[in-house]
Amino acid sequence: MAKLREAVIVDFVRTPFGRASKKRPGFFADVRSDDLGIIAAQALMKRTRVNPASIDDIIMGTPTQIGEQANVARNISLAAGFPFEVAGISVDRACCSSMAGAQFAAMAIQSGQADIIISGGLESLSHFGNPVILPDTDLWELAKDYTARWQANPKIFERIDPTDIMGLGLAAETVAEKYDISREDLDQWALTCNLRAAAAQREGKFKDQIIPIEIKLPDGTSELVDYDQCVKPDSTIEKIRSLPPIYKPDGRLNAASCSKETDGAAAAMFMSKEKARELGLKPMVTIRSMAWSGIEPGIAPYGVCPVSKKALQRAGLSVGDIDLWETNEAFAVVPLVLIKELGIDPEKVNVNGGACGIGHPVGASGIWLLGTMAHEMNRRNARYGLASIPGGVGQATAMLVEREKYWKGRAAFLEKLESAALT
Ligand SMILES: CC(C)(COP(=O)(O)OP(=O)(O)OC[C@H]1O[C@@H](n2cnc3c(N)ncnc32)[C@H](O)[C@@H]1OP(=O)(O)O)[C@@H](O)C(=O)NCCC(=O)NCCS
Repeated sequence: MAKLREAVIVDFVRTPFGRASKKRPGFFADVRSDDLGIIAAQALMKRTRVNPASIDDIIMGTPTQIGEQANVARNISLAAGFPFEVAGISVDRACCSSMAGAQFAAMAIQSGQADIIISGGLESLSHFGNPVILPDTDLWELAKDYTARWQANPKIFERIDPTDIMGLGLAAETVAEKYDISREDLDQWALTCNLRAAAAQREGKFKDQIIPIEIKLPDGTSELVDYDQCVKPDSTIEKIRSLPPIYKPDGRLNAASCSKETDGAAAAMFMSKEKARELGLKPMVTIRSMAWSGIEPGIAPYGVCPVSKKALQRAGLSVGDIDLWETNEAFAVVPLVLIKELGIDPEKVNVNGGACGIGHPVGASGIWLLGTMAHEMNRRNARYGLASIPGGVGQATAMLVEREKYWKGRAAFLEKLESAALT
């Protein structure tokens, strides 16, 4: 068999993440999520100046493949103006969808079946919200709202409790109890996450990745949005401690220690290292290992632990080798159980805040974690980073990447972009 090639990420972009809430609609409440995907794909093309005809595939992740999110990768290829020959495939691995897509992109490039792939994900939780399952929720009533989206085979309920796989809040409570993660630890993480995200916003750390978008306001005027709408810079531990449990009366999770429901899209450009050299593009990171795994659905958030160990083992590295970790704060138990089980320094985890502050636009989250980590690795000259995400119905994925030793080159690349006003 021919030697595997190296797959690199040359750029990552995303839209701002807007609040998805019926009570207080956010800035993308009336925006189609595939339009957000188009913006991300087009921004990558503009920033990298790659010839559209040389894109081998567009991969888009989302677990809700209906309406505007059905066949979404192919639709984005067509609607964004790519040549007809640029194919598109939509991937569903629940919350891990866009990281699964990134893994397929990397594998296609490593094996020589493709040279350049755009891989991303998107979600409108304003349009397709997550069910919130409480212990007394009448699942049959709730199911009426969701049967168009999901008709699980009743046979799976001979093995698992329905409340384990819908909404995931109760599974997060189970993990908190089983791994002894206290309400106070969860509250403190929720605060840290928000303060880190607010600091990153203030310091302009997301400028390299967020594509500003003009939205129409109800009064007919328009606004340019370039920030994540859910971050709470004024968050305090007193307020967080005062919030009631969400999923059960004696539960540990509250509105602050759960991910924020958001709308958004994100995408990265993957290519072979040779192709990047040929095009004069500076790789941000090289893919070193990948892992995916199922886990008992009732403890799904714990899935990031075994899958991260698997990625480390495949790369021949240990916890101490990793400079930066990103993991999805679907619930604050996720970073906390990962830190506890693997013995990670918390200062290296989600350094610019995570989903409890910024949001979890489900289909976009996996690629966001990988891409935001790649940007931060370049900012601080880190060598290795490991991104992981757990998913509903018991799955998890992880990707371990190494920063290219082109820091000066990449800085120059970004400067060139800015001076050409391409961003
Ligand atoms: C948990 C959840 C139900 C809360 O929704 P919500 O009730 O609309 O939440 P809100 O944003 O209105 O927040 C409720 C309160 O908490 C407060 N709050 C939330 N985060 C806070 C923070 N970090 N600091 C301080 N206060 C905070 C809000 O300000 C609000 O206070 P108020 O009532 O005084 O205005 C919703 O966010 C959710 O379902 N999240 C999980 C998503 C999910 O399951 N994803 C899939 C995972 S796999």
